[in-house]
Amino acid sequence: MSKKIAILPGDGIGPEIVAEAVKVLNCLQSEFGFEVELNEALVGGAGYDAAGDPLPEATLQLCRDSDAVLLGAVGGPQYEALPREKRPEKGLLGLRSNLELFSNLRPAILYPQLADASTLKPEVVSGLDLMIVRELTGGIYFGQPRGIRTLENGEQQGYNTLVYAEHEIERIAHSAFKIAMKRDKRVCSVDKANVLEVSELWREVMERVAKEYPEVELSHMYVDNASMQLVKEPKQFDVMVTKNMFGDILSDTAAMLTGSIGMLPSASLNAEGFGMYEPIHGSAPDIAGQGVANPLATILSVAMMLRYTLDEVALADRIEVAVGEVLDQGLRTLDIASEGCQQVNCAEMGDAVVAALSVKA
Ligand code: IPM
Ligand code: MG
Repeated sequence: MSKKIAILPGDGIGPEIVAEAVKVLNCLQSEFGFEVELNEALVGGAGYDAAGDPLPEATLQLCRDSDAVLLGAVGGPQYEALPREKRPEKGLLGLRSNLELFSNLRPAILYPQLADASTLKPEVVSGLDLMIVRELTGGIYFGQPRGIRTLENGEQQGYNTLVYAEHEIERIAHSAFKIAMKRDKRVCSVDKANVLEVSELWREVMERVAKEYPEVELSHMYVDNASMQLVKEPKQFDVMVTKNMFGDILSDTAAMLTGSIGMLPSASLNAEGFGMYEPIHGSAPDIAGQGVANPLATILSVAMMLRYTLDEVALADRIEVAVGEVLDQGLRTLDIASEGCQQVNCAEMGDAVVAALSVKA
């Protein structure tokens, strides 16, 4: 049966990189008999421009009616002055919360061909294979109350609330332990339990859930130390699990270990395994429209979609191998350019992946 995929290009470089991922999906269809129906919709600034809403109802409905969602990126400087409710980011956060995509998987894998592209020494990062499991629908991103209020003395005060209920911690803990069971069976839970009550409960629940996974070794680390360890000795980690905001920050750091944020895909899953897939980099307005963005994170997001939601593991493997091959051929987009390699643009990189895939059909 044909799979329905909602395609949400979004803003900035979103449309350029998603176009390359769509080429890959079309190739799977024409060469490997993977039946897929692609339906495009607007989100973020594009949704606001067309419909006055960063998450138009039709877009949300399309996602609900699909087997999976592929998203490019949202945001741009032209939207920064809008009221918070209308900003592009609200579209992304609305998708995450409405679709209950609480489990965000952000793998940081270093392709050996890119060991020189990292700003860290090759021996620190080579062989890196780390999975960050970020809680995505709770914490300070969504906690109430929130706002900006005026105090009695007339001064303004901004406030947000960091809250986690036990069930929210439990389910992200299960996600992390289940993933660890398929990897090196080590989970490091990152928190700020020396200061925050929320983190104290987080630790307690992690310990409790860990008992259901006796083969997995659980450790705890404060977030400040974790950020330091990530750049000092990143290979000590297998799976890291953490709150929404800490995960946001640590995953950008982890991305840079791999040479470029342009290489990293992500999956955001609900309890049933339905998911939204997107590169972890943003809309990169500075290079949007120039055709120089790196489409590999988005193409690798398609691989994650095949692996985690669509149960097409063999096709996922093929895409990942094809990406390795184009890197072996020495093809590099601007962000990962290095001496002796051939610089290509976004579309050329997409075409090269398709060509590498087609050879195997
Ligand atoms: C991410 C992004 C988003 C986040 C922004 C665009 C709202 O930085 O996916 O990491 O903070 O979650
Ligand atoms: Mg982020």
